[in-house]
Amino acid sequence: MAERDVTRLAVLGATGSIGTSTLDVAARHPEAFRVHAVAAGRDVEGLLAICQRHRPARAALADASAAAQLSARLRAEGIAGIEVSAGEDGVAALAADAEVDAVVTAVVGAAGLASSMAACEAGKTILLANKETLVVAGEAFMETARRSGARIVPVDSEHNAVFQGLPGGKASAPGVERILLTASGGPFRDRDPDTLAAVTPEEAVAHPNWSMGRKISVDSATMMNKGLEVIEACHLFGLAPERVDVVIHRQSLVHALVGYCDGSYLAQVGSPDMRVPIAYAMGYPERLASGVELVDLAAAGRLDFEAVEERRFPCLRLAYQALRAGGGACAVLNAANEVAVDAFLEGRLRFDRIAAVTEEALAAQAPPAPRDLPSASAIDAQARRTAEAAVARIEG
Ligand SMILES: NC(=O)c1ccc[n+]([C@@H]2O[C@H](COP(=O)([O-])OP(=O)(O)OC[C@H]3O[C@@H](n4cnc5c(N)ncnc54)[C@H](OP(=O)(O)O)[C@@H]3O)[C@@H](O)[C@H]2O)c1
Repeated sequence: MAERDVTRLAVLGATGSIGTSTLDVAARHPEAFRVHAVAAGRDVEGLLAICQRHRPARAALADASAAAQLSARLRAEGIAGIEVSAGEDGVAALAADAEVDAVVTAVVGAAGLASSMAACEAGKTILLANKETLVVAGEAFMETARRSGARIVPVDSEHNAVFQGLPGGKASAPGVERILLTASGGPFRDRDPDTLAAVTPEEAVAHPNWSMGRKISVDSATMMNKGLEVIEACHLFGLAPERVDVVIHRQSLVHALVGYCDGSYLAQVGSPDMRVPIAYAMGYPERLASGVELVDLAAAGRLDFEAVEERRFPCLRLAYQALRAGGGACAVLNAANEVAVDAFLEGRLRFDRIAAVTEEALAAQAPPAPRDLPSASAIDAQARRTAEAAVARIEG
């Protein structure tokens, strides 16, 4: 393959769970992908190991002192020719780099917004993992993509599955009625709801089917993750909330279904391994080997589907509530949830009170939809203050 056919990737959040899977798929196809740029938060040794293996042209760490350490470590290891940048701006600059064809947005949390937006404004192909981008600033992000011509291919497994099940990836195609996102139900799907107060961080991050980062694992346990995905789906595919449903599917083999007017569902079935949707997004519209085998359906035996029990998963209701409220409510929901999850992981908040903190923040403010990054940041900051105060009061 000629050099011009090689896709030059920027992997943002390279040291994380999605970043690692992306680099794994890229390494399987050296003729098709070159890792041009990598970024992370503060993990110097993790990014150094990636630089050693993939030899990108650029690297960035959001934490300035960590970036300085990375430069020193690269020198000490005798690795030359990698330009290191620092800070959120340094990370965003990689997303907009003229040498980059496709940007994998796998930074965790609202911290990923600036770099996703930078990639969008630069009209890149965006392999979108950072769901917070759409949750916090979905309208502004999709509008920017329309203007800049950025192509968005979802990496989140459910949205990737929907994308695969829709003609041309578009929900506006004739005959599409609704979409159904599946949820595993997380580690507490069978636990007595009255005992959720005693859940520890270790229990909450032990997901039965998926291996993921800590924050998203807690979100899976509360099902806020599914709520964020419903919001993400509405923006990505231009759907009203009533056309997006959630069903519990404990095997995590069917990732989503698209329902058509003739009574058909098209489902995507695959192992719960993020390399499957990542490889699809990287290769689209072609298929790439991901390193994952087809599911042995006879061995799997059954595919179960159940309704979601609202009492067990109040966070899902809150996400629909924020979506219907519109304006900046989803940004408030996201920020308050991030604060509550951090407080839970630090032992400052009971697991069953994550929803209460988020609900309080939602009730406290109803801002208009953010038009851009500064207005999204302002809503985010205000919601964090409200949520921190709620954590202090509830646990005080
Ligand atoms: N994991 C999954 O299966 C999955 C599935 C669907 C969607 N997603 C979404 O994908 C995103 C990443 O999830 P994950 O599970 O891969 O998270 P993760 O394992 O916690 O990794 C997070 C990554 O973000 C980096 N990071 C943190 N703060 C940063 C900042 N300010 N600037 C630049 N990089 C920063 C981290 O760097 P350090 O290592 O230096 O902290 C790390 O590389 C999330 O939005 C999540 O919702 C994940």
